[in-house]
Amino acid sequence: MDPALSRFVTEPFGKGVALTHSSAAARSSRAEITLRHVCHLYRKYQDDLRIVRKEQRELRTTHPQMRTQLDDLEAEITYLLIREERPATVVEIGSLHGWSTTWILRALRDNRAGALVTHDLIDTARHHVPAGLAEGRWTFVPGDVRETLRGHRHGIDHLFIDAAHTASFARWFVGGLFPTLRAGTPVSVHDVFHGRRPWPISEGRVVLSWLADNGAGYFTPSRRAAAVVNRELEDLKRRLGLLEPVHDGRDDPMLFFRMP
Ligand SMILES: C[S@@+](CC[C@H](N)C(=O)[O-])C[C@H]1O[C@@H](n2cnc3c(N)ncnc32)[C@H](O)[C@@H]1O
Repeated sequence: MDPALSRFVTEPFGKGVALTHSSAAARSSRAEITLRHVCHLYRKYQDDLRIVRKEQRELRTTHPQMRTQLDDLEAEITYLLIREERPATVVEIGSLHGWSTTWILRALRDNRAGALVTHDLIDTARHHVPAGLAEGRWTFVPGDVRETLRGHRHGIDHLFIDAAHTASFARWFVGGLFPTLRAGTPVSVHDVFHGRRPWPISEGRVVLSWLADNGAGYFTPSRRAAAVVNRELEDLKRRLGLLEPVHDGRDDPMLFFRMP
């Protein structure tokens, strides 16, 4: 095993994080990720989501220097999928200042189960993630994920990718990481749909080709690539009283799918 990986397995952040293989709950909950399903999750978890949105707004206020990339719909959908599927181990690639990290950790906190392993070249997230949220459920692994996840032995029950956005990085994860995931595992990739289509030579283009080659569909709340979905979700949030912005971005370019 790579030394960096063995360090995080044996010396986790805080009191210690138990990395386990996929939970029965994660295995049994395999609804297709569709607008209908996402709307159902918004209704089901609206009370908890209201609290988390307030907490995330406060985090931005208390850390004004924090750079935050994830827009509201994509962050909320990440939270909702994790609540519903109760993954034992979430892997996050690319945390920057910890914005997506805190959304994911709040979902695990609210589940009272599960651990997050974050991989990033820079460790700035460590300065922004509240200690109480991290303790017992967060492990940060510094370094190039292509090395730090190499030969990983733990299960990955939810994979979140928001890192290099280059075609070569995407070729690494579709060829080297995806084959280690179980069919049905939820995966998300950020910055795919800032426009109606991904840029020609980009991470998004590689992922869409891989999905097509493997006969898999996807879901996106992107304002430009899926305007109707985006509008329906905003309408639902208005009806639920969840529309006040947490983050300024409105593109929501994330791609969600299940491993075929
Ligand atoms: C767009 S930022 C992540 C934003 C964050 N998810 C958020 O919600 O604010 C991308 C991050 O990926 C990290 N990154 C890029 N290439 C990487 C690699 N090969 N291994 C690990 N981390 C990488 C960068 O250091 C950066 O912090």
